[in-house]
Amino acid sequence: MLKDDLISIFEENKGDFVSGQYLADKLFVTRSAVWKAIKLLRGDGYKIEATTNKGYRLAESNDIISAQSIAPFLSGKAKHFRLDIRKSLPSTNSELKRLAADGEKSGLVLIANEQTAGRGRMGRNFYSPADSGIYISILLRPDITTDKAVLLTSLIAVSIAKAIEQTTGIKIGIKWVNDLYYNDKKVVGILTEGGIDMESGMLEYAVVGIGVNVFTKDFPDELKNIAASILEDKQSEKQRISRSFLAAQILNQIAIDLPKLESKAHISEYKERSILIGKEIYVLKNNLQIPAYALDIDKNASLVVRYEDGKIETLSTNDVSIKKLN
Ligand code: BTN
Repeated sequence: MLKDDLISIFEENKGDFVSGQYLADKLFVTRSAVWKAIKLLRGDGYKIEATTNKGYRLAESNDIISAQSIAPFLSGKAKHFRLDIRKSLPSTNSELKRLAADGEKSGLVLIANEQTAGRGRMGRNFYSPADSGIYISILLRPDITTDKAVLLTSLIAVSIAKAIEQTTGIKIGIKWVNDLYYNDKKVVGILTEGGIDMESGMLEYAVVGIGVNVFTKDFPDELKNIAASILEDKQSEKQRISRSFLAAQILNQIAIDLPKLESKAHISEYKERSILIGKEIYVLKNNLQIPAYALDIDKNASLVVRYEDGKIETLSTNDVSIKKLN
């Protein structure tokens, strides 16, 4: 499709002019066809500037997520991910689970610019407005038993933390098990869902859903005090880190770390970033808030807590949620 081909060329030359004649010759169409397609792209929201003598260019500040805008930044094994980018979906996790159940192969990455019914853990919503966050789901078919799924979530949490830190220079904390924090506010949520092969107890598939608040503002009242964005108001238009670049860095880091899952090498990096260890917390269990002290995260990414009566418990993710005491 002409529009897609143009996006590829513009993304490859982002910020630089390309002449109408060059585009027409390269894509075997007339200059008028190029112009018509550019008008359509502008209608889709692409910031394409035109200058009489130089031609067209995609503005540096253009931040529309597309396969063409992410692919040039993928490196190493991440190049094998297959990208499926949508403008809007109810939930990328729900859609990818449907595709997984239909037999889709490992490595499909579904990304939406907006989710109208983004989901979090424990039946919560994940606020996912358009043009501001990254909403990614990755389909994996790892050869692991279901009890290792928590390891997968913790590995992904470390990968995302490292990718954000390397890209933006900010320091990310991890709140067991699946939330990433910046300045005491949640900036990333991870929702790992899976299908189980009942006979073998192996994971049939895992859909790892990642929601990153990149430029998100105007959170709903109930989130205002607990959620924030990693780059909100931090950058001028010109130096803005694009969501596509960040998404690619996250995928690159995940591709590097995933093969090391069974070695559990990521646990030490997870612990280094833990914002719970050494803190008074509440363990939320069966609708009760039980005060406890977070002692450690063990080699299986389980949280070890000590209750007020001195009893020590190792918590898995399924049955508890944690609230940090201030
Ligand atoms: C949480 O905060 O409890 C987890 C949030 C996970 C949000 C991501 S956004 C992409 C994917 N699709 C969803 O519906 N949820 C996950």
